[in-house]
Amino acid sequence: MTDRYQQIDFIIDYVKPRSIVEIGTWNGDRALAMASAALKHQNHLQYWGFDLFEDGSAKTDEEELNVKQHYSLDAVTDKLRYFQNDNSGFSFDLIRGNTRETLANTDPNVTVCDLAFIDGGHSVETIDSDYQALNRCQTVLFDDYYVPDENGACPDVKKFGCNELVETMPHWVLPVSDGIVSGGLVQMVLTGKLAQEFIDKA
Ligand SMILES: C[S@@+](CC[C@H](N)C(=O)[O-])C[C@H]1O[C@@H](n2cnc3c(N)ncnc32)[C@H](O)[C@@H]1O
Repeated sequence: MTDRYQQIDFIIDYVKPRSIVEIGTWNGDRALAMASAALKHQNHLQYWGFDLFEDGSAKTDEEELNVKQHYSLDAVTDKLRYFQNDNSGFSFDLIRGNTRETLANTDPNVTVCDLAFIDGGHSVETIDSDYQALNRCQTVLFDDYYVPDENGACPDVKKFGCNELVETMPHWVLPVSDGIVSGGLVQMVLTGKLAQEFIDKA
């Protein structure tokens, strides 16, 4: 049984990124999975991870449709450092705070990295804002493309998810969907150079 996150490994095998930015680092496990996949192809990987970390609250959970537990910046830093001890080609920076603010003043290298994974806040305003900061990255992968389930349930795509944004650009919806507890299905979407290649080949 595959889940949608396993598709990221295929994308990394194809893109062979030297730099990755993840919006929504959460507990850091995805950072390590993506770094392990990238380090099969490159001697060095730079990872930037953005999250509210301990600034997450009941209010931000509601605004961003977040159902996941909050992890502290220190706890995730320790986890990534531990991985770095065995993987000296791994460099990382973690940036705490709301990406509507933190991405505005970020290292310019973040904005042109090889692979951006946008999986932070789920409100359309935050996803739009994250994409505006990262739209020059070579490949941009979004989580949170919502489709109705067999009962017709689906999050309100006018308020949440990347559906309306990706309709404005060439995009490729990845095939694996997962159920959402509150109803509906979620898929990932590729945009950027790789999406265009897939579209041209289809
Ligand atoms: C779905 S989780 C990320 C999952 C992770 N990418 C993975 O693959 O395991 C979403 C994360 O985004 C963070 N988040 C939500 N809204 C945010 C915002 N406006 N700015 C920064 N981080 C945000 C939450 O704290 C949460 O850790």
